[in-house]
Amino acid sequence: MNQDFSPDRAACGFARDIPLVLDAGEAAALRAGARVGISAAHESAHLHVAGAAPYVDDVPEAAGTLHAALAPSPVASGVLRSIDRAALLAMPGVVAVLTAADIPGANDCGPVIHDDPILADGTLRYRGQPVALIVATARDLARLAAARIGPCLDIEPATPVLTAREAYARGDALLPPASLIRESAPGALTAALAAAPHRLGGQFSLGGQEQFYLEGQIAYALPTENQGLRVLCSTQHPSEMQHLIAHALGWRSHQVLVECRRMGGGFGGKESQSGLFACCASIAAARLGRPVKLRLDRDDDFIMTGRRHPFEYDYDVAFDDDGRITGIEATLIANGGHSADLSGAVMTRALCHLDNAYYLPEVAINGFVARTNTQSNTAFRGFGGPQGALLIEIVMDRIARHLGRDPLAVRRANFYGVASRNVTPYRQTIEDNVVAALVDELVAQADYQGRVAAVAAFNRSNSVLKKGIALTPVKFGISFNVPHLNQAGALVHVYADGSVLVNHGGTEMGQGLNTKVAQVVADALGIGFAAVRCSATDTSKIANTSATAASTGADLNGMAARDAAMTIRNRLADFAAARHGGEAADVQFANDVVRVSGIALAFATLVRQAYEARVQLWSDGFYATPKVHWNPKGLHGRPFYYFAYGAAASEVIIDTLTGEVSLLRADILHDAGRSLNPAIDIGQIEGGFIQSMGWLTTEELVWHATDGRLLTHAPSTYKIPTANDCPAALHTRLFDNPNTEPTIHRSKAVGEPPMLLAFSVLLAIRDAIAATGGPGADPDLRAPATPEAVLDAIASLDAIRP
Ligand code: MTE
Ligand code: MOS
Repeated sequence: MNQDFSPDRAACGFARDIPLVLDAGEAAALRAGARVGISAAHESAHLHVAGAAPYVDDVPEAAGTLHAALAPSPVASGVLRSIDRAALLAMPGVVAVLTAADIPGANDCGPVIHDDPILADGTLRYRGQPVALIVATARDLARLAAARIGPCLDIEPATPVLTAREAYARGDALLPPASLIRESAPGALTAALAAAPHRLGGQFSLGGQEQFYLEGQIAYALPTENQGLRVLCSTQHPSEMQHLIAHALGWRSHQVLVECRRMGGGFGGKESQSGLFACCASIAAARLGRPVKLRLDRDDDFIMTGRRHPFEYDYDVAFDDDGRITGIEATLIANGGHSADLSGAVMTRALCHLDNAYYLPEVAINGFVARTNTQSNTAFRGFGGPQGALLIEIVMDRIARHLGRDPLAVRRANFYGVASRNVTPYRQTIEDNVVAALVDELVAQADYQGRVAAVAAFNRSNSVLKKGIALTPVKFGISFNVPHLNQAGALVHVYADGSVLVNHGGTEMGQGLNTKVAQVVADALGIGFAAVRCSATDTSKIANTSATAASTGADLNGMAARDAAMTIRNRLADFAAARHGGEAADVQFANDVVRVSGIALAFATLVRQAYEARVQLWSDGFYATPKVHWNPKGLHGRPFYYFAYGAAASEVIIDTLTGEVSLLRADILHDAGRSLNPAIDIGQIEGGFIQSMGWLTTEELVWHATDGRLLTHAPSTYKIPTANDCPAALHTRLFDNPNTEPTIHRSKAVGEPPMLLAFSVLLAIRDAIAATGGPGADPDLRAPATPEAVLDAIASLDAIRP
C-alpha cells in the first residue's frame, strides 16, 4: 500500500476535521469507496454555524463604494408627471438621483416578456414601485433620501385594481389565457358532467407566500477596466442577471461578470427578481464609475418584490358512487401583479399539476393570469405546481364528505394506474408510478387507520377541542417545461497536488447543491471529500446557464460535473496504463488510491506524474436532459423527464373557540430516488414541508382594500413558522426507489416536491372542522387556514346546522 493514503481522511467531510455521522450501511459504503449515497455534511455547514460563510454583504467593500436605495411610489396606480430631484440632491451625502431617463439601455428587467420597467416610466403600477434610484455615500443617507421622495413627485392618481377576481371580471390579463384540455371525444367533458351520478362545484381561495429568504435581495457592482462590471449578486440566475444588466446598459454580455458564492435562501424569489437590484446597482456603478451596493431593507423587499401567486379557483367535477372522477372543469385565476415576470411558466406548471396523483378522464383546465396593481408575482418553491395540485386534493376531500366515504379510499380510487389510466391531461404517459405502493407503506408506517379511529373517538368525547387527520400523496414533474432550459455546464480542475476545484452553472442557496456536486466528482475520481472544493458560480467560467430552479440543480449540474470528471479520470487511466502497464479499462480509482496492473499509488502521485507527462488535468462537462419536448400552444408533450413521489399523514388539533391550530404529528415518506445524500434530502423534505405548512396556515398577505398598500410587510405582521411550529412527532423517511431514468446515480430532484406534502396539514384542519358538524359536514375553508379562517369555516357549518 502506498505512502500518503489515509483512510481516515476519506471519513472526514468537506470540513477536514468534522467526522461524518453515518448509519452502518453508509459507513460501509464509504469505506468501500462510495462518495454518493453518503450523508456528508453540507460543505459550508461548519461556516454557516460559525457565521464564517460570506454572503454578498460580507465581502469587504472596495474603496469609494457608494450605497443605493430605491424610492417607492406612494400610490398603487396613476400617472407620474415629473420628479423634482433638487431637494433630494441637496440632502447630506446624496451623490445622484437617477430616474428612468438616466438608464442608457432598455428600461426593462422582464425575464420573458419585456413589460417590467426598472424605474417607473410615467405609469405607476403598484404602491412601492421604484420611481428613483438614490445613490449616497452611506446606506442610511440613501435610504433617508428615498423616504423623502413623496413631495418631489407630481402624480395624477388613479383607482387601482387590487384583486384577481376583479381583473378577471374585466378580462384584464397579463398573458393570453391558456387551456389544457383532454377529452376522449369532442364534447365528452360536457357529457360527463351532464350524465354524472354526482356533481360538485365551487370556488376556492388560496393566498400567496413571501419567500422570506433570510438574506434579502442584494447586488454589489464594481466597475472594471474598459467599460466592464463585476457584479456580486444574491441570485439563482447569474446568466439572467448578466443579460439584464447588459440590456439595461446597452452593453454586450461579455462586459458583465456576475458572481454568486451562495445565497441565504432564494426559494424562487431570486430567480428573476434579483434583476431589478442587479440592474440598479449596475446602472449607478457604470454611470458614476464607482462601486455601488444596493442592499434592501426587509420591509422594502416585501414592498418591492413579488412572491408566490395567490390563486382563485372555480371548479365543477363529476364522479361516480365510488368517488371516481369522470370529468372535471376548473378555472385557475392567478394574481400576476403588475407585470408578466415568470407568470406564464408558473401558470403552465399549475395546469400541469392539477392532476397530482390522479387520473382525470375528461378534463379542461383554464388558466388566467390577472393583471393587478400589486407587486409582480414570481417563482416560489414549486413554481405553481402546488397551486395546481392543491385544488384536486380539496376536490377529493369534498367528494369523500359528499359520499360519506373515507377520503383515503376516494384518493386510492382515483390514483393513476400503472398499465392503464396512466396518461396525464398534457398527454404524457406516466412510466414510473409508485404512488399506490408508497401510500401503502406510509399507511403502515403512520398507523393511519388506527389513528383515524382514535381521532374519531377523541372527537366524540370532546366538544371544544377537535382533532383531524389526513393523508395526501405527491406526484411532481421534474424538468423545466421549456426544453432548452434543461442543460448545464461544469468545469473541473485537478491541480498538480491532487486537489480538485469544481465550478458549475448552478447556485447554492442552502439546498446543498455544491455538496452533492462535489460528492459526484469525488465519487468519479475516487477521492475523499476533503480533496474537493466548489467555487462560486461565475458567468465567466460557465456561460449561458439556466436558473437553479425547477429542482433540477443536482440533476443537471451533477451530470455535467460528472461528465467533466470522467473525462479527466479517463485521461488519467490512459496515462496510468501507458506508464505502469495493463489496460486503461482496468484501472481503479477508490479511496484516494489508484490501482493499476498490481500496483497501488496515491491519486496525488498519479496526478503529479500525469502533470509532468503533460496530460490535461482539467476539463469541461456538459449535460442536456434527454426525452423532454413540449408543444407550448397545445400544452402537450413530455414536459417532465420523470416524476418524484411522496405522501404525508398529518394529525392536527384545533380549538373551536379561538381557531388556534396545532400540528401534533406528521409522518412523511418521500421519493428522492437513490438519494445522493440522505441527510440533505431529509433536510429538504422537512424544510419544504414546514415552509409549505406556513403558506397554508399562518402566512397571510393583506393589502389595503383601497390604496393598495401591503399591510403585512415584516415579521411583525407576517407570520412564518418557527422551530416551535414543528410537530413534536415528525417522522420522515426516504422511499427506496432508484430512478427508472438514468439520472445522476439514479437520484431524483428533491427541492420542490415536498411542498405538496403539507396539503395533509390543511386537509387535517378541514377534517377537524368537519368534526364540529354533523355527518357529511363539508366546511368552507380558505387557505391560509389562519384562526380567523378556521372560525369562519366553523361558522359556515353552523349556518347550515339545523
Ligand atoms: N432550500 C434552501 N435551503 N434554500 C432555498 O432557497 N430553494 C428551493 C429548493 N430548496 C431553496 C431550497 C427551490 S425554489 C428550488 S427550485 C430548489 O431548492 C433549487 O435547488 P436544486 O435544484 O438544487 O434542488
Ligand atoms: Mo424554484 S421556485 O424553481 O426557484
